[in-house]
Amino acid sequence: MKRTWWKEAVVYQVYWRSFFDSNGDGYGDLEGLIQKLDYIRDLGVDVIWLNPCYESPDKDNGYDISDYYRIMDKAGDMATFDRLLHEVHKRGMKLIMDLVVNHTSDQHPWFIESRSSKDNPKRDWYIWRDKPNNWRSYFTPSTWEYDEQTGQYYFHSFAVEQPDLNWENEEVREEIYKMMRFWLDKGIDGFRLDAIALLAKPEGFPDAENPYDIRYLTNNPGVHDYLQEMHEKVLKHYDIFTVGEVAFVSPEEGLKYVGEDRNELHTLFHFEVCDEMPTWDPIRFKQIQKRWYEGLWGKGWNSQFLNNHDHTRQVTRYGNDKQFRVESAKLLATLVHTLPGTPYIYQGEEIGMTGVKFDSIDDYNDIAMKNKYAEEVAKGRDPKEVLESLQLLSRDNSRTPMQWDDSENAGFTTGTPWLKVNPNYKEINVKQALADPNSVYYYYKKLIQLRKQNPVMVYGTFRDFSEHDPYIYAYTRELDGVRWLIVLNHCDNDNVYELPQELASVDRHLLLGNYTDVKEEGSALHMRPHEARIYALQ
Ligand code: NOJ
Repeated sequence: MKRTWWKEAVVYQVYWRSFFDSNGDGYGDLEGLIQKLDYIRDLGVDVIWLNPCYESPDKDNGYDISDYYRIMDKAGDMATFDRLLHEVHKRGMKLIMDLVVNHTSDQHPWFIESRSSKDNPKRDWYIWRDKPNNWRSYFTPSTWEYDEQTGQYYFHSFAVEQPDLNWENEEVREEIYKMMRFWLDKGIDGFRLDAIALLAKPEGFPDAENPYDIRYLTNNPGVHDYLQEMHEKVLKHYDIFTVGEVAFVSPEEGLKYVGEDRNELHTLFHFEVCDEMPTWDPIRFKQIQKRWYEGLWGKGWNSQFLNNHDHTRQVTRYGNDKQFRVESAKLLATLVHTLPGTPYIYQGEEIGMTGVKFDSIDDYNDIAMKNKYAEEVAKGRDPKEVLESLQLLSRDNSRTPMQWDDSENAGFTTGTPWLKVNPNYKEINVKQALADPNSVYYYYKKLIQLRKQNPVMVYGTFRDFSEHDPYIYAYTRELDGVRWLIVLNHCDNDNVYELPQELASVDRHLLLGNYTDVKEEGSALHMRPHEARIYALQ
């Protein structure tokens, strides 16, 4: 298999508005990120993924771009961005930008022109129709919004304020490629491409049998032509790393995006775990890992993550954020860093930050949650019940400010934070984590070091020894005669894992564990709640 830096890398995602506020306006900013770069570097990560910071009315927290060539005021300005890039590189790290090319803001001058009249030269830059079909968007009951001025409907896969660009139009594509070159020529190290599987729309927009199953929005014929063109005209000319957000794909479909012979993207995020697996489902999770491994291994590269700015923090959603928070956070980290693919850390995950439950819808900011709340309440449902039903998966669970210390607002801002800080910041914060040698933070550091020193963790083949076990996940990675065994007890109780003969007959040596000692008798591994172990087998 071809060895590349981005397969070996560990990526740290910075949701900058919640990272560190340098000027007291309540929003994190690029200057704040610069001030915390040493913290990120010390963890050992290689790449920073920066959420969108382009000019934007901020209806969807930067995913509604109104000027691709400017930095939004809340984040800073272009001079600060340039300094950030310089400072990242100075520390031996790389920076990838989140880029949204499926849609813009409705305040983008292109859309303002497009909606101004039917014969405007930019009319065709967006998607206009006389009649809507029955599709739902990600955030609203219809993908179509009526525009009074010209009496037509425009298409939006997300919020009303996020009209989709018409990728069939060559001028649109050329403008996008030009803009991508602008950022790459600055020296950024790649892109996380937002909603990239949505670029192509199906011919004629046929009504869906079940409009609630929004798979019709993604992976339509033509999407690969666009990506191959993007690769040919832009991506292949730079030594960069690209990761595409690709919803609703099978490994077979996924390979079309990332196949090494395909000339499209390097890696993808599929959402069989985060979007499609609401709570921990061990057998299903193992099947997903196995299918994706078998589908991609040796042909294309995967990503590993259990949360991001759209998904509730992993220790709350998939682990135990109460009695075993520390153990559970470490177990999940072990999982993400030892399964095949490039691992991602979402800011705060490395100190075991948890989700939140605010009492009122007014304390939430997430447009997806707020729109859904309004839709359900308008149907006559009890508001309290609706709020409760939306809390666990609200995107604000992961967007609360980074918890730096136990001072007011967790040391995130001297002003009023744009989103409330999680009330548990007095116990869970960076200062505490750095002072405790057994913290989740230091465990991440060790995992990352292991990856740096052991190619088996990156390039080793994968084999699951526990397919039908609902609690224990035991698998090996193997490369050039080096064999590792990972054993995880993803459960609140003790369990004994009896090593299969093949693994029991060789010596083993513990490389990393999340308990201070190891309990085992012969081939029986006594695993405590949320215990994780990585062994080298001899
Ligand atoms: C995926 C992004 O991660 C999410 O935050 C955003 O709302 C949608 N794409 C729309 O751009």
